[in-house]
Amino acid sequence: MNSSLVDAPSPKASVEVQDKKQDKPKSGQDKVDNTFSSSDSSAETSRKLAETIAGLRITSEKIAKTQSNVQDAISASQSLEKKWQKFQSDFDKILNNAIGQIAKGLGVNSAVDEAKFGAGYKGGGEEMTTLEKFKVLGNDCSMKSLARRLRGNKYKNIVILMGAGCSVSAGIPDFRTKGTGLYSQVKKYNLPYAEAIFDLHYFNEVDKTPFHKIAKEMYPDPEKFKPTLAHKFIKVLQDKGLLLRCYTQNIDGLERLSGVEEDKLVEAHGSFLGDGLCGYCNAPCDKDVLKDVLMKGDENGYCGLKCTECDKGYMKPPIVFFGENLPKRFSENHKADMEGCDLCIVMGTSLKVAPFSNLASLVPKDVPRMLVNKELVGDFWDEKESEGGDTNYRDVVELGDCDDTIEAFSKLLGFQNELGVGGKESSTTKTTKEKNLKSEKVSGKKMKVKSVAKALLARKPNGRRVSIAN
Ligand code: OAD
Repeated sequence: MNSSLVDAPSPKASVEVQDKKQDKPKSGQDKVDNTFSSSDSSAETSRKLAETIAGLRITSEKIAKTQSNVQDAISASQSLEKKWQKFQSDFDKILNNAIGQIAKGLGVNSAVDEAKFGAGYKGGGEEMTTLEKFKVLGNDCSMKSLARRLRGNKYKNIVILMGAGCSVSAGIPDFRTKGTGLYSQVKKYNLPYAEAIFDLHYFNEVDKTPFHKIAKEMYPDPEKFKPTLAHKFIKVLQDKGLLLRCYTQNIDGLERLSGVEEDKLVEAHGSFLGDGLCGYCNAPCDKDVLKDVLMKGDENGYCGLKCTECDKGYMKPPIVFFGENLPKRFSENHKADMEGCDLCIVMGTSLKVAPFSNLASLVPKDVPRMLVNKELVGDFWDEKESEGGDTNYRDVVELGDCDDTIEAFSKLLGFQNELGVGGKESSTTKTTKEKNLKSEKVSGKKMKVKSVAKALLARKPNGRRVSIAN
């Protein structure tokens, strides 16, 4: 007999116990009844406990199953993403091949260098074939089409060209927007023309006070002015290893503040943030000393700092005035960068100041360009000017507020988290959609054949800064 059989009471034994209980006196009977009912309730409790434990086990199994389902879904979506990228790269290869074959079949090898089909066309004066143009954005010059390619790792050397429009939402006015731009606000200084406020000759020889006064208002205060979505977007590109360079005309330092590294940045028009220099003899001046003087002014309320070296000129922050050379970094890098980029994004600039305004025209013809601006600028494709002739094959034109567009673009790219923009549709995105409806008309079909001449005219061989007349 094994121990479990011995320990378990037989039904017969149980009856016997019950019979014995009935023979006991009344007082004892109560006692037995009580004992009996307490053991009944503890059996009930254990039954309930067992049920609860069983329930918990089922719930925990369900949780484990859900976890495994979620894990499966994540793996499936990752594998789908990989498959999609592979599909895109395979598609590119097939397309390249097909283009080469078709070109051969058409016997165009002599007219068009066949090598460029595979290796990538790098500009030049000759016309591109329809097939070459098709390769750039697949005849779909929309933001979605560009985002799809960017997600598919097609662009890894992105150049950003930016201007004052990118800082408007930070509270810093641009220059040329009528009414709100800085040049609309300097009329009070009786300048011969608005840009004279940043003109070296005017500053040195005619009147330095307008600049000194405006400098006091413009000094970037990191407490007051924060990077906008456009600035943050550049930082995200940098963090993902996709940024070749960011060229900015802005002097507010918001690119630096957003974390764009020095090596990735060319401040083409200088910045308020470095050491100052004499406008006349270039003698250096400590930035804090200059800032202090410009912000406070002297006892007469005048805020200029005279140069003690030449005793003629006045100190100015290291921003590039009209008539001054651009920083070395600009001349050292811009040609290779523009020719080497695989995507160029132009944001918030009127492209009216040379030589910066020429950069977008240096992008190779087989490289897509994106314009994020309130208005059409430079030689970006313009339906009106194409007059039913050429086709737009590479300019993605997004007219509207740059933060709205960057938000929408970032969502298409899956950059929301890095950029801190939510998944829900914001009011600004809605505006973008409305604008996109308009700009779809612009970005879809025709190519502009315009103003290379205008850009060339504005290009000065000495690299000095000039303004292009409207
Ligand atoms: P501009 O004022 O010339 O051009 C700003 C462009 O941004 C215009 O095309 C506007 O329509 C557009 N814009 C304004 N707000 C916008 C927004 N929220 N979203 C999208 N686009 C917007 O400024 P820049 O082109 O930067 O020199 O000017 C170039 C240079 O001219 C500046 O660097 C400055 C000035 O002389 C100095 O450094 C002092």
